[in-house]
Amino acid sequence: MSEILTAAADGILTITINRPDKKNALTSAMYAAMADALEAADKDQTIRVVLFAGHRDAYTAGNDLQDFLNNPPQGEDAPVFRFLRNINTASKPLIAAVSGVAVGVGTTMLLHCDLVYAAENAKLSLPFVNLALVPEAASSLLLPAMVGHHRAAELLLLGEPFTAATAKEYGIVNAVYAEDRLLDEAKAVARKLAAKPPTAVRLTKQLLRQSKGDVAAQMAAEGTHFRAQLKSAEAREAMTAFFEKRPPKFT
Ligand code: COA
Repeated sequence: MSEILTAAADGILTITINRPDKKNALTSAMYAAMADALEAADKDQTIRVVLFAGHRDAYTAGNDLQDFLNNPPQGEDAPVFRFLRNINTASKPLIAAVSGVAVGVGTTMLLHCDLVYAAENAKLSLPFVNLALVPEAASSLLLPAMVGHHRAAELLLLGEPFTAATAKEYGIVNAVYAEDRLLDEAKAVARKLAAKPPTAVRLTKQLLRQSKGDVAAQMAAEGTHFRAQLKSAEAREAMTAFFEKRPPKFT
């Protein structure tokens, strides 16, 4: 069974992250599959909306840390960075249905989605600093703009998990539903959007994006630090400690 499932129906492309035994942690191959799906959706006139979903207890645990240790993304064309660029430039509305853990990119990608729905059990987190990394997906620009500097600093510097209710209060999430209703509610909104005049939807999305500032430049600047930090001794220690189930020691 593929770790990224795609299904097109009623003008909606649903991309489901499907690696439940690893809490939907994302490997290079999975980023590549999602980047390809987004590129195809952009060109396909029958697709009007893209919906991201995961599993009940895991939207995604973020980047696969084994992959970061063994196969770190080398340059701007690495699948993770291609995926991040594609969610920024997507011309069709992106909707996310977030249930369970949404770690790292699982939360930062939501800043690029136009509509975000969460289940009551959703647990978001941005533990980049704890892993000796820096924010990505232009979250160092988009998050403070969305929630204010102090809240963004708290989320990005302390990296502690926060609930769906907090995410809604901060404006990261549109609405919170019971776990068993989440996907139906998100699909209902996707169907509503898919029935609207496509050019007006596309232009409105484009205008909204233009108001966000230079997202691509921020992403590129973050990427330079991110790739350098990935090679650092402190990052190796943080990630090794995760797999050895012990607290990291930074000297
Ligand atoms: N990369 C690689 N493997 C991961 C992973 C990740 N990001 N997240 C979870 N896994 C694996 C675990 O190693 C474990 O594998 P195993 O069964 O072979 O031991 C399995 O997925 C289940 O994870 P576990 O930690 O037992 O689940 P949990 O419910 O106790 O905790 C998380 C879930 C997401 C809170 C926890 O797994 C976690 O903190 N993961 C790391 C998240 C992270 O730092 N991501 C990178 C952000 S940039």
